[in-house]
Amino acid sequence: MDIENTSTSSCFWETTLPRTPVDLPVSVDREAAAALTVQLGDRLRTAMRDGTLKSGERLPSTRALARQLSISRTVVTEAYQQLYAEGWLDGRHGSGTYVADLVIHTPSAPRPSGSGAPAEPHPPPSARRAYGGGPRRSDGAGAVPAARGRGEQMVDLRPGQPWVRDYDEAAWRRAWRRAADLPPGDRPDPLGLPGLREALAVHLRRTRAIAVGPENIMVTRGTGNGLDLVAATLLRPGHRAGVEDPGYRVAREVFAARGAEIVPCPVDEDGVVVDGLPDGLRVLYTTPAHQYPLGGRLPVPRRERLLDWARRTGAVIVEDDYDAEFRYDVAPLPALHGLDPDRVVLLGTLSKSLAPDIGVGWLVAAPDLLAAVAATRTRLSDRTSGPAQQAVAVMLERGDLDRHLRRMRLEYARRRAAIVDVLGPRVMGDTAGLHVMVELPAQTIPSLLAEAAERGVLLDSTARHHHGEEHRHGLVIGYGSASLADVRRGITVVADLIGPRLAN
Ligand SMILES: Cc1ncc(COP(=O)(O)O)c(C=O)c1O
Repeated sequence: MDIENTSTSSCFWETTLPRTPVDLPVSVDREAAAALTVQLGDRLRTAMRDGTLKSGERLPSTRALARQLSISRTVVTEAYQQLYAEGWLDGRHGSGTYVADLVIHTPSAPRPSGSGAPAEPHPPPSARRAYGGGPRRSDGAGAVPAARGRGEQMVDLRPGQPWVRDYDEAAWRRAWRRAADLPPGDRPDPLGLPGLREALAVHLRRTRAIAVGPENIMVTRGTGNGLDLVAATLLRPGHRAGVEDPGYRVAREVFAARGAEIVPCPVDEDGVVVDGLPDGLRVLYTTPAHQYPLGGRLPVPRRERLLDWARRTGAVIVEDDYDAEFRYDVAPLPALHGLDPDRVVLLGTLSKSLAPDIGVGWLVAAPDLLAAVAATRTRLSDRTSGPAQQAVAVMLERGDLDRHLRRMRLEYARRRAAIVDVLGPRVMGDTAGLHVMVELPAQTIPSLLAEAAERGVLLDSTARHHHGEEHRHGLVIGYGSASLADVRRGITVVADLIGPRLAN
């Protein structure tokens, strides 16, 4: 069904910003195979991406849009929720739903040219830089100045750290006060507090579409702890443990510390290469939602082949779901654990979504394996702090964590957009998480890192993430621990350093 051009009262924005009637450029087709929610979400995304809907514009209420499109209000609500979760939309304290401040779709006035001047919210197309070919500055300087003025901090664009400075202090204090209401416990359950496991089951269902119950969940102190418990349960000296290469160094260290022989497994831009996997691995560590550090998102057919391989060879897959709550413009792909709960242990953490300091994560496994891991935990006298678990349970139950995630999704989406806007299509791995990757010729990287540091920008490369010979070369750019203004300043320096290196 195509929507008519509705310049009637039914498509007036119902509020203040702006109050003018706006034709919402969307339609849905009842005959199409795609669900109406998906169609509506896609249409709105397209309109925001191409600038038909602009930052700060108010969307119609769910009621008005449902009426306009002759669809149910639930469909509109669900589409808005998905876009909100992805960072496209912004809520302003009960006053409506707005298009978020996303750089990608917002041409605007010329950029001020002074060094260190805060970037305006939306760099104009003329200020966008692409490798080698982007427009140069018009202020005659020829080169982008240092990201840092005198006395300013370095801009840290290395991956690994989340933004921990914006949080709801009242909610944080309330959670810890409520945690303190409980007396100290003397016999910690190796699986964790039942109430938190219930709340995590709901959280996983909602944020990751993983249908598990508390009987599948152990509360850990984070991914590193989960990895070690799995390794202590499954690995014996001489067992072969596969790790993605390049990949997360901690996984290699933990497996090696348990005496395993480390087998580096190649990764391409989509994630782990299944055809290259050897037989005889006892475990395989992988990051399918957002490969660390290349950023690939393992396609569903490859997920299925990976599980076929695991079933055929008897390997257990350890799925590190470390930053999967942050997705941009994409729906989640099914977690490996959901596709084969008996073959896959899923590890999650609050280190990215809240703070590494909190020391709470989860391990999801089939009941038999979970019981074995719990026995290991008891044997090692290992546990997660009871008060920390209680505080997290309060944050989950009151919706504080959800609200924090929504806020941070929006913030990270802006930073990511700032990077993509400046570096253009060479950016890889930008559909999720808190880092992206940019491939570069190997010989250009060391001097680039050094010059960036001289200009006040700290960068990381793929080099330290390889377990064997380096075969993917590039920058791994994190946007978790730098503010939006710093990301903009830093990435302009990066673009300026990359351009000549690609031109040569
Ligand atoms: C790939 C990967 N997994 C997991 C984590 C988080 O680990 P933990 O929960 O032990 O803090 C990180 C943190 O940087 C990471 O990069």
